[in-house]
Amino acid sequence: MNILAPSILSADFCELGKQIEEIEKAGAQYLHVDVMDGIFVPSISFGMPIVSSVRPRTKMFMDVHMMVTRPERYVEEFIQCGADGVTIHEEACDCVAETLCRIREAGAQAGLAINPETPVEKLYPYLDKMDMALIMTVHPGFGGQSYIDECTEKIEIVNAIVHEYNLKTLIEVDGGIKVDNVCIPLDAGANVIVAGSAVFGGNVEENVKNFKEQFQNFED
Ligand code: DX5
Ligand code: ZN
Repeated sequence: MNILAPSILSADFCELGKQIEEIEKAGAQYLHVDVMDGIFVPSISFGMPIVSSVRPRTKMFMDVHMMVTRPERYVEEFIQCGADGVTIHEEACDCVAETLCRIREAGAQAGLAINPETPVEKLYPYLDKMDMALIMTVHPGFGGQSYIDECTEKIEIVNAIVHEYNLKTLIEVDGGIKVDNVCIPLDAGANVIVAGSAVFGGNVEENVKNFKEQFQNFED
């Protein structure tokens, strides 16, 4: 099954509760929460208080994407605040294996992300320790950028490995995904689709429904 993960980075924060209700009602399954520290990426977004406030308002899986240097400092705290999944960046962490294990031990799903310039091989040593691989399809830091086509091959490679070794690892893609290009990552084997501006720009419910309609062409 393919999963839509709207990124609240592009939400209207004055209307956050209402917009979360709308995307859930329209069928989004994950809520993607982009945490940015101003060091690993140029911008600062939000952190634990948003996760705690949103938690009681939704049953969606809360998918926390930490664009944070040394994320090992905060993983348990995000899980205590209500994160269901925590994704760290390979480039930002010197103790990836240990941190992924700690995420699982704390009761959440562990994800590992790579930036567009990071070779896909960097994921390989950790495949048995992660529930989700996140292939960034823009340089992280901002919503509303364009999908980088060269990243599609990485999705295909991870998908081939997942099939070859019969793994349960989900493949998430993040950045520049719209209703009219979502078929590219889906065709390459992605099954968790992050979309920020393409969900929260305009009619939120319509946008979610349009994504889900595209998904139907790729269901097994
Ligand atoms: C980028 C973030 C993304 C972003 C996606 O740094 O990780 O999740 O919100 O936004 P769009 O879909 O607008 O590219
Ligand atoms: Zn993200």
